[in-house]
Amino acid sequence: MNIIDYIAQNRDITREQLEAVLTTDDKESIEYLRSSARRVADSVYGNKIFMRGLIELSSYCRNDCLYCGLRRSNKEAVRYRLNEQQIYDCCATGYRLGFRTFVMQGGEDGWFNDERMCRIVSNVRKQYPDCAITLSLGERSRESYQALFDAGANRYLLRHETASAEHYSKLHPDEMSWQNRMECLHTLKEIGYQVGCGFMVGSPYQTIDTLYADLQFIRELQPQMVGIGPFVATANTPFASFPNGKVSDTLRLLAIIRLIHPHVLLPATTALGTLHPRGRELGIQFGANVVMPNLSPLDHRKDYAIYDNKICTGEEAAECRACTEHRIKSIGFETVVDRGDYKKD
Ligand code: SAM
Ligand code: SF4
Ligand code: FES
Repeated sequence: MNIIDYIAQNRDITREQLEAVLTTDDKESIEYLRSSARRVADSVYGNKIFMRGLIELSSYCRNDCLYCGLRRSNKEAVRYRLNEQQIYDCCATGYRLGFRTFVMQGGEDGWFNDERMCRIVSNVRKQYPDCAITLSLGERSRESYQALFDAGANRYLLRHETASAEHYSKLHPDEMSWQNRMECLHTLKEIGYQVGCGFMVGSPYQTIDTLYADLQFIRELQPQMVGIGPFVATANTPFASFPNGKVSDTLRLLAIIRLIHPHVLLPATTALGTLHPRGRELGIQFGANVVMPNLSPLDHRKDYAIYDNKICTGEEAAECRACTEHRIKSIGFETVVDRGDYKKD
């Protein structure tokens, strides 16, 4: 049997198959991978692409991840945090533009403690009962995750970054722990969040073995969402001179993830759009079904500088939304006004 049919039928992949898919130059095989992934995505979600409005709350971060432009050691980073009113204004604009999921993301900024964050979540929940609230605020305590859930948050994105503890220790300072990251993901699931894990493609020291571990981890955790995007080398970080992740590897991995986990909500990420002018469109063609246009206030956009040359830093929310819709239509897909919940098997 052809490898791709094997992966699709078994919803599994062996290490050797992963290596074969990532190293082949055979255009026909890649096209077959792409069309198979797209067929699977279509069978679950049709040609609908869900839009999430991304609100970047803060560029302050207490952590020092070696790859990220917002790491606390980066003295060149411009720091800002949105005030509560700015966050509510973003949601109001987003709602008017048809978003029914708000993703509040930020560095690990102590200012957004439980009291403040729960107040924000519960106000947004009251104002927009028909919307999903997604948080992506890094590692917090079980009590904190529970309080935010009780305040009305539904989903949480916390990329696991790598399923190998050894690889994790090369991407993070000693004070950060892979075990804690994994525990956070399990806690979030237990509490009842729809959970998203994920990783960067082509991060320094990544190997076929670590990627294989990532795919096995996804099979075990069965997250509702998986966020993957290429690693983008970033100035003023220890990894500034490492090569960027490859767009082609990212596309192949998106397709594999769709095949092994057909119902997953899978974004075509901004990082993919940063490294290729049609990266997000290609991501959708390889099985992604979510896009996350930016709703953050224009005057702070460029300061949420996770990585260099990030796109969508000069456009108003409405422009970004229209641009996204146009891009999606241009490849024959449809954006929908919908919470875009995970569909169970
Ligand atoms: N602070 C939260 C956290 O780390 O989970 C949320 C924000 S963080 C900026 C979101 C994601 O950005 C990280 O999980 C990481 O995978 C990604 N990221 C950080 N630096 C990156 C880089 N140089 N290239 C590509 N993605 C990057
Ligand atoms: Fe902070 Fe997240 Fe960047 Fe790590 S990846 S430095 S936790 S913003
Ligand atoms: Fe943001 Fe095109 S999607 S400007």
